[in-house]
Amino acid sequence: HAETSAAPLPETLPNAAPRGACPFDPPPVYQQARREQPVIRTKLWDGSSCWMVTRHDDIRRTLRDDRFSSDSNRPGFPFLTAGRKALTTDNPTFIRMDDPEHARLRRMLTADFMIRKVESMRPQVQELADDLLDAMVKGRQEADFVADFALPLPSVVICLLLGVPYSEHDFFQRCSSIMLRTESTPAQVTAAQDELHAYMAELTRTKRRNPDDGILSRLAERDELSDDDISRMGRLLLVAGHETTANMTALSTLALLRNPRELERMRAAGPEEAKAAVEELLRYLTIIQSGVSRVATEDVAVGDTVIRKGEGVLCMINAANRDEDVFPDADRLDLARPGSRRHLAFGFGVHQCLGQPLARLELQVALTTVLRRLPDLRLAIPFEDVRFRTDMLIYGVHSLPVAW
Ligand code: HEM
Repeated sequence: HAETSAAPLPETLPNAAPRGACPFDPPPVYQQARREQPVIRTKLWDGSSCWMVTRHDDIRRTLRDDRFSSDSNRPGFPFLTAGRKALTTDNPTFIRMDDPEHARLRRMLTADFMIRKVESMRPQVQELADDLLDAMVKGRQEADFVADFALPLPSVVICLLLGVPYSEHDFFQRCSSIMLRTESTPAQVTAAQDELHAYMAELTRTKRRNPDDGILSRLAERDELSDDDISRMGRLLLVAGHETTANMTALSTLALLRNPRELERMRAAGPEEAKAAVEELLRYLTIIQSGVSRVATEDVAVGDTVIRKGEGVLCMINAANRDEDVFPDADRLDLARPGSRRHLAFGFGVHQCLGQPLARLELQVALTTVLRRLPDLRLAIPFEDVRFRTDMLIYGVHSLPVAW
């Protein structure tokens, strides 16, 4: 894999830089930046400048430093797309706020996503995975693994947790996919978010009248939250809760099909090995492909570079997760690698992914169940024809035709 970089780094590193020969590797230009100029000035889609940080250590320092803000209303915040930029001034979710407001809202959800709470759902997630596979294989020789398994599994789970009817999935999956497409226009993104917001606010009002044991209902019992507040939190969880795990499930399955030795390891894995294997897949595939955005609120040195107050920073966690200083032979998928868990696929610092225990559980169950139950699973189209999500903020595959 080692690219020798004869060419100079381009001045503009677009948010979805071209992929190289291997579709599981981050764009080569990010890897080159990490080796040659780990904190580099770059231009965004709209011609504005920001910094790109690519080394593991520098990203950890940046993401745990409260002089870097997540507040997208601050001047200089680096927006990944025109659609994102259009969204931010009103209606932000807590992923785009700083402490103490961020912590106040996040704390209301921590109990729901604690490891012990999430582990108690394992039998239910297992049963759901089995049911989905039963339905997928029944009377058929081929299916789209994304539509029939990888997407519905986390989607049903987050709906159950929130108290959102899964029967509405066509609606909310369409909204979230518009919001995550890099080419969506500002008007499209704003309309999709508004629709989702109105839907969640209406659902919240219903929960106030007819409470159930979902998260939305419980949030509605708190006097301090308005319908809009709850709608925003619900929206964040709904979108973050299904698009991410769905793409990791499908992309992991494809990566394993392409690495038969690792696939056999995963198939034979006991519970502890399966957990470690999922960490390595999270590291190797790092689906958040366009970076984690922050803006400096003071002058701060990152490595040898001073980032000035008001300048934006993109933390390229996909490049950091291939940092040779932390992960020897980093471009190799090695499910038995010691120390995969140091990956930054869930971010780092106060905004580190709230849903990570759930994502881990879903991935462990999904991957082990599929491989155990479908020993002859294979790709039903040539690998070259697989449609990778280079056009989305979250990487993965648009569909994955498989046979068994
Ligand atoms: C935050 C990745 C699954 C809910 C984040 C962040 C990353 C991430 C990188 C940090 C963003 C930042 O610092 O600006 C992932 C990946 C997932 C996944 C790779 C799956 C493989 C989930 C699931 C849920 C979820 C299943 C919900 C149930 C959230 C929330 C935040 C977040 C609410 C915001 C946390 C905060 O701002 O304090 N995620 N996520 N994620 N994630 Fe995830």
